[in-house]
Amino acid sequence: MTSTIPGFFQGTEMPTSGWWDALWPDPAAVLRATGIGMSMDVIDLCSGDGWFTLPIAEMAGHVTAIDIDANLLEVARGRLTANGLVNCDFVAGDAYELAGLVSRPVDFVFMANAFHGVPDRPRLARAVRGILKQDGRFAIVNWHQHPRETTTVLGEPRGPRTELRLSPEQTIADAEAAGLRLVKLVEVPPYHYGAVFEPA
Ligand SMILES: C[S@@+](CC[C@H](N)C(=O)[O-])C[C@H]1O[C@@H](n2cnc3c(N)ncnc32)[C@H](O)[C@@H]1O
Repeated sequence: MTSTIPGFFQGTEMPTSGWWDALWPDPAAVLRATGIGMSMDVIDLCSGDGWFTLPIAEMAGHVTAIDIDANLLEVARGRLTANGLVNCDFVAGDAYELAGLVSRPVDFVFMANAFHGVPDRPRLARAVRGILKQDGRFAIVNWHQHPRETTTVLGEPRGPRTELRLSPEQTIADAEAAGLRLVKLVEVPPYHYGAVFEPA
């Protein structure tokens, strides 16, 4: 069980049942909505098996995938290699320890489906702020705070437990507590939103 890894954020296990691609048929569109652009140096934080890492590598200059689960990073590595992509690094580690995991400030940190499980969210946001370039951006993609029984995919309720889900207002407050400022809030249908921040 991945959730037995020390430091693992609660309720952030990678789905195993094959519904992720049904929920996210066009991950590149999600990335475009958050503002990831060509030639950016990007971190995919809590990258899982690389569902978003692959399109980031296709549209940006470089991507570093970071996850606490080294096995998932190997799956991500295989996914990118199979697609002929070489502009990527894979780093196993705890997201809180970001400063020690990356060697340079980056243009963009993308974090999907994980912020809800972070015990000290301002601490995590501060760690991200610390490795952003002055004009860098941090995008958090979260499940909306809808009851879990209403967020069905392939006929089943999906996603984190209802009580773990965060409203956009909670997410924004946590990021602002870390010295970040909201740039834009976007809808990511059917069940998510994306909040994009810059250093205040
Ligand atoms: C639900 S998955 C989402 C993966 C990917 N972002 C996506 O949306 O397809 C959350 C990921 O967070 C990772 N994770 C959990 N705790 C972590 C931590 N403390 N530091 C880094 N990654 C962590 C898990 O291993 C898992 O791969």
